[in-house]
Amino acid sequence: MPNLYVSGMERLSGKVKLQGAKNSALPILAASLIVRGTTILHNCPDLTDLRAALKILTSLGCDCSFCENTVTVDSRNVTGEIISEDLMREMRSSIMFLGAILARNGSATVTAPGGCELGPRPIDIHLKALEELGYAVEENEGYITCKKSVTKDKVEISLNFPSVGATENIILASCVSKSRVIVHNAAKEPEITDLAAFINRAGGKVYGAGTDRIEIFGVSRLSSVEHNVIPDRIVASTFMSASVVTGGDICVSGIIPEHLTAICSTYRELGSSVTIDNNELRIVSDSRPLGIDTVRSSVYPGFPTDAGPLLISALAKAEGTSVFVETIFDNRFNYVDELKRMGADIKVYGRLAVINGKSRLSGAKVKCTDLRGGAAAVIAALSAEGESVITDIHHIERGYENISGVLRSLNAKIIKE
Ligand code: EPU
Repeated sequence: MPNLYVSGMERLSGKVKLQGAKNSALPILAASLIVRGTTILHNCPDLTDLRAALKILTSLGCDCSFCENTVTVDSRNVTGEIISEDLMREMRSSIMFLGAILARNGSATVTAPGGCELGPRPIDIHLKALEELGYAVEENEGYITCKKSVTKDKVEISLNFPSVGATENIILASCVSKSRVIVHNAAKEPEITDLAAFINRAGGKVYGAGTDRIEIFGVSRLSSVEHNVIPDRIVASTFMSASVVTGGDICVSGIIPEHLTAICSTYRELGSSVTIDNNELRIVSDSRPLGIDTVRSSVYPGFPTDAGPLLISALAKAEGTSVFVETIFDNRFNYVDELKRMGADIKVYGRLAVINGKSRLSGAKVKCTDLRGGAAAVIAALSAEGESVITDIHHIERGYENISGVLRSLNAKIIKE
């Protein structure tokens, strides 16, 4: 497995085009299984998670191709309803296929999904919702089997937490059905809105996505569709951190400004100039970042949990002490030990991290503990004196398209070998 070699302290500047959002592309690819025809999906990032989704679709009988960020899925001949353990373990989003297979076939068998180690990531909210939709759910020796047992005209589901994945699974399972489904306390993330837009473009009737009340009127079929995946707001925040820690001047094009509202206001608190002109963001950082009193991750439109590690890498170089409170995942700070190897002063107390900014970090050999933690290590390495070696980069490649090439185009000294 190759590593990333980074020589830090180079000032980054230039323009990058933002990749498509992994967390949008994956549930939409699951939805392509329900389409009785062809899905053409543009702006798909070339990532290992995406390739894993294509393997699942192929295993279920779809004909898939992937060329220059466009995926084509022909799902006319879908026959399968079982996803093997190997494929399920490749990523967390494999659980999205459960709802999609149910919409297509009425029954499905999967195992618990894999994904980043961010603490326990149960799927109880997904399974409870499927039961409420009229599926009998059985768990046996690691396998989960769901079968339609009753068809209900109207179902109201209240989520006890606005889980992104569970909201997506409910939409997927009920968009082609005989039911009208109302979801209360639904997740409001832009990726949900993108999934609903895709389904509606294919002939579905999903209303209210982006609010906490989503109403789905089941239709009889979804038909061939062409769609563009939204840009990746978390990757945008990664370039913003790269600018902050290198005193850089970076333009990120192809953004959707409202997706970045909380992120931009936090980065302004760091002292950077953040301006947006149409769909382009420019972040200029010409002095050491300022510490921030307290930042809390929260559900959209709050500060995203996935952007937390990137922000913490920037705060590690800030003037003063900052506090980050993680409210979504139990165990999101594994990467902090790696940043400490570079000299960062960060103390973790459960879901809270106290970051005492240091004026200097030094290059070190560090490993990626998970996707965003790995990206945080890259950011820290860009700001450290000397060379860093970043290992276990398969985590980063789950979510970032050609991160070394893109950073090199901004003047970073980074190679993958
Ligand atoms: N949760 C449960 N039970 C469930 C589902 C979730 O207890 O049945 C808990 C989780 O354990 C977690 C919290 O609820 O503590 C949030 O989970 P959620 O279901 O909202 O997250 P997810 O769907 O598993 C997606 C993204 C994550 C992102 C979260 C939160 C995808 C593929 N993943 O995960 O992205 O952090 O929403 O916004 O969409 C990443 O891209 O690096 C990543 C981890």
